[in-house]
Amino acid sequence: MMKFVASLVLAAAAARAHYTFPRLVVNGQAEEKDWYDTRMTKNAQSKMGVTDPTSSDIRCYSSQKAQAVATVPAGSVIHYVSTQQVNHPGPTQYYLAKVPEGASAATWDGAGAVWFKFHTTMPSVNAQKQMSWPGQNEYVTVNATIPPSTPSGQYLLRVEQIALHLAQTPNGAQFYLSCSQVNITNGGNGTPGPLVALPGAYKTNDPGILVNLGAIQADAYIPPGPAVWTG
Ligand SMILES: *[C@@H]1O[C@H](CO)[C@@H](O)[C@H](O)[C@H]1NC(C)=O
Ligand SMILES: *[C@@H]1O[C@H](CO)[C@@H](O)[C@H](O)[C@H]1NC(C)=O
Repeated sequence: MMKFVASLVLAAAAARAHYTFPRLVVNGQAEEKDWYDTRMTKNAQSKMGVTDPTSSDIRCYSSQKAQAVATVPAGSVIHYVSTQQVNHPGPTQYYLAKVPEGASAATWDGAGAVWFKFHTTMPSVNAQKQMSWPGQNEYVTVNATIPPSTPSGQYLLRVEQIALHLAQTPNGAQFYLSCSQVNITNGGNGTPGPLVALPGAYKTNDPGILVNLGAIQADAYIPPGPAVWTG
């Protein structure tokens, strides 16, 4: 019995140390309820991250489509609500993928070299001489701006926070992510890129994925994936 209780306590502690991003916030306006515009992820209960960056789960980790498509004016500031404190060190990145002509954000799967990154974060060194990351220990993800020149239309929007506390061993990094169905309005004439596939953009031994944070300088960190498109 004691052993059973102890393992329950451990499981609860593990769940507390992990998180999901079920709710998109656009210019301060949160989606109606969890998993409304955002596709429910397979870890909605377990909260466990993706550990194989080459698996199909690295794209959206979704278990089902969402019921709605959020309107997101180009130039909006967005972030996500987290179910738990984002307590693990690592970068937060945002990607978009334009839904092909004739398809819908409500059903499209995001396959192919279609994803561009529009935001990432770098660590700094705090007063205690520890590496610290934007958004770390918050209950929301960092803010990012949808580049105003992003063309109007339907997209999948992907948020990712990569927990690097165990990343010194292969498949030790934990990817916390979700994808929302969005309709970008009032967009511009930009040509987003470079475009990458997910899975495909990440390798297990990328220097930003297989990394010992205790052994590098903050400014030497290299976020995985393509260069940021700034619009
Ligand atoms: C992030 O954006 C929201 C509005 O969506 C704003 O209330 C909040 O202050 C911003 N946070 C930071 C750290 O700038
Ligand atoms: C996307 O927004 C445009 C412009 O407001 C609108 O015409 C279109 O119906 C919207 N599509 C979806 C799927 O919401």
